Amino acid sequence: QDHLFQRQDLEGQRALVTAGPTYEPLDPVRFIGNHSSGKMGIAIAEELARRGAEVHLVLGPSSYTTTAKGIHIQRVQTAEEMYQACTMYWPSASLAVMSAAVADYSPTSLSQEKIKKTEDNFTLELSKTKDILASLGASKHNGQVLVGFALENRNEKAYAQSKLQKKNADMIVLNSLNDNGAGFGFDTNKVTIFEKDGNEIPYERKPKKEVARDIVDRIVKMLYA
Ligand code: CTP
Ligand code: CA
Repeated sequence: QDHLFQRQDLEGQRALVTAGPTYEPLDPVRFIGNHSSGKMGIAIAEELARRGAEVHLVLGPSSYTTTAKGIHIQRVQTAEEMYQACTMYWPSASLAVMSAAVADYSPTSLSQEKIKKTEDNFTLELSKTKDILASLGASKHNGQVLVGFALENRNEKAYAQSKLQKKNADMIVLNSLNDNGAGFGFDTNKVTIFEKDGNEIPYERKPKKEVARDIVDRIVKMLYA
């Protein structure tokens, strides 16, 4: 039986994972969101838990979830809420995987009433959200392993490497766009992992559960290096 030989190489480790989109409200009935399914992050949370980690999953408004043992789910809506949840948990974690598709901008002001259509043109002012990955990177302590994602449609390698540096991450998982140009909503992923010591590891396209295993293998290697 497979479970009898299950590797528990993450026993005693506390892991923080973000997944899904964020929704940024502009009035009581509207928001700015994105098409992230949350599947990749959920698969990573499940793989970490399967290998013995205690997982804190900060999950945006995704229609997917998990009931796997060893995962505590904290539901959030906005980038700000996700930031608050992550900065609370990070000091006591030994690793974090930021797979959420966090909004880069949110409406500068939230209207208390439903916005009515009046003028022909309507301009919405947006303000930059806090960069969660960069902020965890800035407060990273010895031995913590911090993993981010990147999705690019040009200069992918250079952008992935610059995210590694700028955000003080230990690993960036670069998602290659699917052939039809869409990155979201698929059950498979093709990734390349960039590590801070210069390793660049390309993988074949495969189911997200298997991609999760590849990523966690690299995390374990780094954690115990
Ligand atoms: N990220 C984050 N907080 C944000 C924006 C992004 O934690 N406010 C994280 C994502 O979860 C991901 C990584 O940063 O792990 C890279 O996200 P990405 O959108 O590729 O990069 P950005 O830094 O937002 O830059 P850009 O969108 O301009 O490429
Ligand atoms: Ca972004």
